[in-house]
Amino acid sequence: MKLWGLKPENFRAVAGQICDGTLYNELGLPDGAQFAGVDLNMGCPAKSEVHSGACAALIRPESRGLAEEIIAATREGLAGRLPLSVKTRVGFSEVDMTWFDFLLHQDLDMLTVHGRTRQQMSKVPANWDLIGQVRQMRDDVGARTLIIGNGDVLSRQQGEELATKYQLDGIMIGRGVFHDPFVFLEDGPIQWAAYDKAARLDLYRRHVELFAATWQEGERPVHTLNKFCKIYVNGFDGAKEMREQLMAATSVEDLKQRLRALITEIE
Ligand SMILES: Cc1cc2nc3c(=O)[nH]c(=O)nc-3n(C[C@H](O)[C@H](O)[C@H](O)COP(=O)(O)O)c2cc1C
Repeated sequence: MKLWGLKPENFRAVAGQICDGTLYNELGLPDGAQFAGVDLNMGCPAKSEVHSGACAALIRPESRGLAEEIIAATREGLAGRLPLSVKTRVGFSEVDMTWFDFLLHQDLDMLTVHGRTRQQMSKVPANWDLIGQVRQMRDDVGARTLIIGNGDVLSRQQGEELATKYQLDGIMIGRGVFHDPFVFLEDGPIQWAAYDKAARLDLYRRHVELFAATWQEGERPVHTLNKFCKIYVNGFDGAKEMREQLMAATSVEDLKQRLRALITEIE
């Protein structure tokens, strides 16, 4: 479960609710679902969050006291019942390795490092050498924190190569899933290449059906699906025209009908 915010007491309370089942019930999660841990968002660069002093703003040296209070309060709420991790960037305006010296003294279970500063947003390539330096610092400090690298990984193989090169404990992949829905599989690129037009449309239909089952009261409008359309409706002749047709849907039901019609046309 990912948390962001500003008030340590809220982190303490929500961490408790994550562990005691309150949040499962509130979110209506299916039986058997389990949170794997709590990850504190200290990396999101969005203006609204940063202007409030949250997320990536916590990287700034003047926020260190607050960052420490948030980590301590969350740990109290968890009371050892789930692991605690942080995801962050390599600096705010500039690279700041003192941030990692601080984080590596917080006894975190895991630390995910996105190799860009907040200022860099997503505009420059992720700097993996800096991620490697954090792993080295972890060893020098003698911390038990697992170090996960993040930024621009487009395949599992590339991730594994980076993990080996920088001796990391793991890799986080974000946008890579937009290029290959099977990116986490060893043979992901092969599997995805084997998906023809009909299979790609059918997989999008499945995504849309899961979306409809999750947001039954229309909590999310249909156009929020458009950013996913290109993942599936891509890589074959006529894909662009099909995307335009699908993105013009006015409701989830309308989208489902348009997909059904396209799939029937192919069959
Ligand atoms: C649509 C989108 C939503 C994201 N939401 C979150 C989020 O909620 N929390 C977070 O820590 N990072 C979030 N990120 C950042 C990613 O986790 C990741 O750090 C970033 O995309 C760089 O990794 P990548 O090159 O593998 O995508 C988001 C990124 C994208 C593109």
